[in-house]
Amino acid sequence: MKVLVTGGAGYVGSHVAVDLLEKNFEVIILDNFVNSSRFVLDNIKVITGKNVIAYNVDLLDKGALNEVFEKNKIDVVIHCAGHKSVGESVNYPLKYYDNNLISTINLCNVMNDHHVHKLIFSSSAVVYGIPESLPLTENSPLNALNPYGKTKYMLEKILIDLSLSNPLWKIVLLRYFNPVGAHPSGLIGENPTGIPDNLLPIIAKVADEEMDELLVFGGDYDTPDGTGIRDYIHVSDLAKGHVHALESIDAFQKFKIFNLGTGRGYSVLEVINNFEAVSGKTIPYRIVSRRPGDMAVSYADATKAARELNWVATKDIYDMCHDAWNWKQNSKGIDKVF
Ligand code: UD1
Repeated sequence: MKVLVTGGAGYVGSHVAVDLLEKNFEVIILDNFVNSSRFVLDNIKVITGKNVIAYNVDLLDKGALNEVFEKNKIDVVIHCAGHKSVGESVNYPLKYYDNNLISTINLCNVMNDHHVHKLIFSSSAVVYGIPESLPLTENSPLNALNPYGKTKYMLEKILIDLSLSNPLWKIVLLRYFNPVGAHPSGLIGENPTGIPDNLLPIIAKVADEEMDELLVFGGDYDTPDGTGIRDYIHVSDLAKGHVHALESIDAFQKFKIFNLGTGRGYSVLEVINNFEAVSGKTIPYRIVSRRPGDMAVSYADATKAARELNWVATKDIYDMCHDAWNWKQNSKGIDKVF
């Protein structure tokens, strides 16, 4: 079976590609390399020992996308490509609406033209906004609060409408909680350009003394230690969730939605403690005021994925911090080399 992975050189997409290749799927990567590097393609080959076809194509370029489908008999698409920074989306909403929405609509049109109707889409727990109750189930109310989150919300609605329009479509929407960590080989991982906004890449930079301290956003939440709690999920577990979705998709009708999380939350201070333990480094931190738009606690009810996809996350916070730190040390200088 031939699987097209959009954003396949990116953080999540590259781990998905590795997992697919290890399960003997044929993989075609499509990426515009705006927020990813070409070395990832070589390292995917090193990890898996398998060849991967890759195209430097922007999904906004419908003609180029069409050519990829003409050259390859694609069976399923896993759509990971998209802009993903909340802060940037607040400052540049049109960039997010333009890129994330149009690229996905182009992709679906081209898929339809080529009679490809199976799609697995990277959505996000960001669609829930501030939870009314916990854990978050797939039926919890949706209230995306920022332009990035709204693109995911809108795309979910567009894809659901599409799946209802023609029984040939089978669409799986995967709502990621907080993907962290890296491949245990240390050969692929998250490589944010500029200053990262997410907790784990910042902690790794502080541990590596590239940054002086971590600012902990809020110490007065209604949580046991006062800091925010999130459902961190190892990116390799997340990748496996896609493969399970792919293996189940034929049995589904129209669309299916799944949370991909561990079902367990960790506070910022717990993450710091775990990172210190695995790295042997001290993470200097300072508690400052809350970050606008943040919630106290978010974690998944991941039982639907366990039930219907036969998937559960197996890696714990130790693995997540260990592999994030391993990747941090292994990836030094990557920006300069590639
Ligand atoms: C963010 C995005 C979310 C995205 C997810 C991907 C927001 C509002 N949401 O989620 O859409 O899907 O990343 O991983 O940005 N923290 C600090 N100091 C820091 C950075 C973070 O204390 O320098 C805290 C945050 O307040 C939060 C926790 O660490 O409690 C996790 O933050 P982060 O990694 O940015 O993820 P989210 O905000 O949950």
